[in-house]
Amino acid sequence: AAAAPAEKEDSFEQELRKANEEMIRENYAQALRSFNTLTTNFAHEPLAHLGRARILELLSKKERSNQRLWEAIDAYKRYLAFGELVISDQEFTSAGESCIENLRFLGHHRQATNIHELLIERLPKDPRLRNQLSLTHLMVNNLQQVEKVALETLKQWPTNTVAQLHYGLALRQLRGDYVKALPYLKYAVESQEEGTQEAFFYLSLGETLQRLSRQSEALDVYKKGVAKGFFASLYQRSLYNEPRLKAQSFWQSKETGYERQLEKLQLHWRAIRDEGMALLGKSGYFEDEAEQLRDQGVWQQFELYAQGRRVKDNCRRTPITCSLLQEFSESSGCRRGQVKFSVMQAKTHVWPHCGPTNCRLRAHLTLVAPEPEKTSLRVAEQERTWREGELFIFDDSFEHEVWHNGTQARLVLILDMWHPELTPTQRRSLPPI
Ligand code: LMR
Ligand code: MN
Repeated sequence: AAAAPAEKEDSFEQELRKANEEMIRENYAQALRSFNTLTTNFAHEPLAHLGRARILELLSKKERSNQRLWEAIDAYKRYLAFGELVISDQEFTSAGESCIENLRFLGHHRQATNIHELLIERLPKDPRLRNQLSLTHLMVNNLQQVEKVALETLKQWPTNTVAQLHYGLALRQLRGDYVKALPYLKYAVESQEEGTQEAFFYLSLGETLQRLSRQSEALDVYKKGVAKGFFASLYQRSLYNEPRLKAQSFWQSKETGYERQLEKLQLHWRAIRDEGMALLGKSGYFEDEAEQLRDQGVWQQFELYAQGRRVKDNCRRTPITCSLLQEFSESSGCRRGQVKFSVMQAKTHVWPHCGPTNCRLRAHLTLVAPEPEKTSLRVAEQERTWREGELFIFDDSFEHEVWHNGTQARLVLILDMWHPELTPTQRRSLPPI
């Protein structure tokens, strides 16, 4: 009986080696069975749980199964629960980071923050772990938390570029404080350090420079972004792109293949206008643009379709418009866009910006535009204006900027449409934006 524990140890080592070999040989099903047995028979052995986590993670990728991924997360948590007595710092963080990556992938950022806290608690002297936490907050646009975490990190590590970057982003988005945000963003991005080289960061720095009237410096940033493969071109800076799609700032209706549908909408522009105008006359329907794209002025929207889905309550108030759109599924069903009324009051300026994706084209059906010579839309290097009853199409993944220097409101119907070169499969499977 005295010899039993040692034997059991030996057999654990042996079984573990076998299971790992099966995993390496990509015999995943057998490896999972082995690790399941190991965690049952040797529940007190951390490496049994770690191995099981790894194999479940591999299987989840192979089978594209979220269920499996949750099982992997669970196994990682069991492993982490063994704590510092039995697991080295290195193994602990590596498992924690995998667990976090999986939770982020599943969109459970709140749960991920618990794992972050665990890692930070164990290794309070590692700023990287704190930056990972603020990145998780950044991913879900939880800017208050980004600011809080980054600021605390900077107190201890004032020159940490990733913390500076996150703090700068929070200052910009949360407070609209471009002056204060700029040095943080600039220093961090220019450092080229790990964790600072992402398309989104280049875009944020460039836009901040543009808002401070430092256009030529912004262009330099965008040029670097193109060279690094972050942006399709100097002007086309969308972040969610499909490759090889035709890219030009303005499109002719006949180039889109949607000519017939667009003509029909245009034919009914007065009815559409009247429905939009009726809502404008009442308060509480149009909502302020909320992405901090406005320099000054008033710019509001009333959404009919979002991410390919009908906004029911709104469509009830504009039945003619929506029944027309219902026949135009390449627009109303476009999961990477919206259909909306857009009203812009006089004395409005919208900062240069790019839409999020190259997968859509954006049509404007002009409904009310009494002062065409006082308004302007610039897309890349071309400018045009709105004329009642007319329709134009542009690609809003290209940088665009809007001015309204007149005295009366301008109203348009904005319709996003799937980029005509996207295949039916792409239209079905691309994640919504
Ligand atoms: C935009 O898409 O950013 C603008 O053109 C919208 C608008 O109402 O002009
Ligand atoms: Mn826009």
